[in-house]
Amino acid sequence: MVENEWRIENPGGSQRVIVTKDLPGEHWLEVLKAADCRVEICTSDTILTRMQIIDAIGNSCDGVIGQLTEAWGEELFIILNAAGGKVYSNYAVGYNNIDIEAATAAGIAVGNTPGVLTETTAEMAVALTLAAARRVCEAERFLRAGRYQGWLPNLFVGELLEGKTVGIIGAGRIGSAYAMMMVKAHNMNVLYCDVNANVELEKAVAAYSEFNQSQGGMPLRCTRCLNVEDLLQQADCVSVHTLLDDSTYHLIDADRLVMMKENAILVNTSRGPVIDEAALVAHARTHPDFRAGLDVFEHEPALADGLTELDNIVAVPHIGSATQWTRTGMASLAACNVAAVLHGYPVWNKDDFLEYLSFPVPQAVPSIINAEALGLAMLP
Ligand code: DGY
Repeated sequence: MVENEWRIENPGGSQRVIVTKDLPGEHWLEVLKAADCRVEICTSDTILTRMQIIDAIGNSCDGVIGQLTEAWGEELFIILNAAGGKVYSNYAVGYNNIDIEAATAAGIAVGNTPGVLTETTAEMAVALTLAAARRVCEAERFLRAGRYQGWLPNLFVGELLEGKTVGIIGAGRIGSAYAMMMVKAHNMNVLYCDVNANVELEKAVAAYSEFNQSQGGMPLRCTRCLNVEDLLQQADCVSVHTLLDDSTYHLIDADRLVMMKENAILVNTSRGPVIDEAALVAHARTHPDFRAGLDVFEHEPALADGLTELDNIVAVPHIGSATQWTRTGMASLAACNVAAVLHGYPVWNKDDFLEYLSFPVPQAVPSIINAEALGLAMLP
């Protein structure tokens, strides 16, 4: 087994918190120190194995900040509980790596980091959409390979987005932010598919449409589709923003890919397994005008066979939330989740988390997924 290195901060702290990867910024660490925590941080970049996490928890551990690359299931939560643990926070907004039921059964509160990833991840979805539409990456590879011999009428001709229709699968915070970026920058009509109607998004598009018309532009529409097939058939560009669970696993499969327009663009910044990646590679191979922009992969960090050979797939290594502001904000929220549960504070009651990014932080736990199941008190 590879030995991992650990750095200890505030060694005299009365509560032991382990952090399975070093996190950006200082604010998060100050939050934990102010809460009298001894903080043990794994400084190695290798992903910890289950056994290494068990070793790190040891006999006494009050809280953990962990990563989306670690599978937190029944065994780890039982061990954490036996070590005196009360709280685990993911350093992520997504939590498909966590068995929430098992955590609840072990009495462990599970936190995540919403609110601070919204615009950053939506911007990455926009970047992938534009890169795919305008063939930016394959054109750059061509240029760097010294193959550019001069301007040509047919060199890397792509797709215009202006005035077309964007389809959003999962119209939560990030999906809505992406939709509005596409509406405002490219005058796109919106179709969305979500278990709930998103009245706020519909109103925002209607308000922008009014403004657009006042400037001599076209009316723009935002329409909810009750099934994903309708959206896939009509949209020119589809962006996936749903969470991953049994109902969304392989939501986009071979059958649904063929429903999309021949020259459609498919973008995924949510979780890889929402798309059947082998089917996507097969589809992209036989449909040269179809394009995809991927930030996440079904078997991360492995990629489906043949994916990297296809010029009509743009792919980046799960960096949707990777801006300094967001990653330090995620660290602050994760630290506040742990510190505030250990303090016994009630759970935050707003959908705005900016107050957690500076001092003083609110005396409330920012975001606990199983708060209701654990019967945690909420701020009034
Ligand atoms: C998340 O937070 O779920 C992203 O995938 C990584 O930041």
